Amino acid sequence: MYDWLNALPKAELHLHLEGSLEPELLFALAERNGIALPWPDVDALRQAYAFNNLQEFLDLYYRGADVLRTEQDFYDLTWAYLEKCKAQNVVHTEPFFDPQTHTDRGIPFEVVVRGITQALADGERRLGIRSGLILSFLRHLPEEEAQRTLDQALPFREHFVAVGLDSSEVGHPPRKFQRVFDRARAEGFLTVAHAGEEGPPEYIWEALDLLKVQRIDHGVRASEDERLLQRLIDEQIPLTVCPLSNTKLCVFDDMAQHNILDLLECGVKVTVNSDDPAYFGGYVTENFAALHASLGMTEAQARRLAQNSLDARLVR
Ligand code: ADE
Ligand code: ZN
Repeated sequence: MYDWLNALPKAELHLHLEGSLEPELLFALAERNGIALPWPDVDALRQAYAFNNLQEFLDLYYRGADVLRTEQDFYDLTWAYLEKCKAQNVVHTEPFFDPQTHTDRGIPFEVVVRGITQALADGERRLGIRSGLILSFLRHLPEEEAQRTLDQALPFREHFVAVGLDSSEVGHPPRKFQRVFDRARAEGFLTVAHAGEEGPPEYIWEALDLLKVQRIDHGVRASEDERLLQRLIDEQIPLTVCPLSNTKLCVFDDMAQHNILDLLECGVKVTVNSDDPAYFGGYVTENFAALHASLGMTEAQARRLAQNSLDARLVR
C-alpha cells in the first residue's frame, strides 16, 4: 500500500542504534549471553512498550540495551538496522549510539565502536548504504562524564562525524554541556543535539547558540516561539522530526495533532525519522505512512521531506 513511500530515496538522520533492537534480537542476544530477562517472551516484552513520557521509555530502553555485550552483538544490532534501511530505500544513514550506556556497564568503548563500525563498513560495501556515525552524550549524567567519553573517542576519531546529546531532556539544558561541545568542535567534530522534544524552545536557542549545532533533533516545540521559527527558516536549520516517537511518548496526543506538515509549509527544513523504531512501531517508511494516513500528506510533500533529508546530511 505504501510502496510509493518505500520507493522514495531517503536519508535517516535521527536513529538510535540501541533503539533499533527488536524484541526478537533482544531475546536471542540474552540467550547467547546467558542473561535472564524479566519478560517471559517476546510478546510480553512488546506489551511493555506503552509509555506516558520520554522517561518511561528511557527506563525500558536502557534495560533492553543490557543484552548488548560483545563486539558481535553490536555488529548484529547494526546489521539488522542496515537491512531495514535497504528494504526501505534509506540510501544514507547517520545513526547515534550512546557509549555511556555501555561503558557504565563495564563494556569497553572499543568493543562497542568496533562492532558498530565494522557493520557500517560492510553496509556500504555490500548494501551500498553510506553512513556517518554520531556519538551521543547522555545528558542526565554530569558533563565531566561526557568529557571522559570524548577522551575515549579521540583515538577512534575517524569513525565519527559528530557528537550529539540525548536522554532525559527537561532539567538538563544544552548549556550544561557547553564545554564538552566546545572541545569536540575544536577536535574537528560537527555537533547536533536533541532539543525541544519535551523541553522548551529556550533549549533550542541554547543548542544553536552555545553548542553551535548543525541540526536540531526533534525541535517540534519550536512552533511555540515565533522568533525561533523565523530563525530556523532564515538559516534553514534542519529539524530531524520523529512522528511515531512523538505520539508514542505523548509529545502530541495523536498523529492528527502533529505539527510537521505545518512546519514544512511555513518553510522549516523538516525531515522524517524513526528515532527508536523497535519501540515506537516502525521505521522510516512507517513514519511517512502515518503522516499520509493521519495528516493527509501529499506525494509532493513526501518528496520534499525526502529531499530535505538528503540535503541535511552531514556526510556527503
Ligand atoms: N534516546 C533514545 N531515544 C531518545 C529520545 N527520543 N529522546 C531523548 N533521548 C533518546
Ligand atoms: Zn532521539
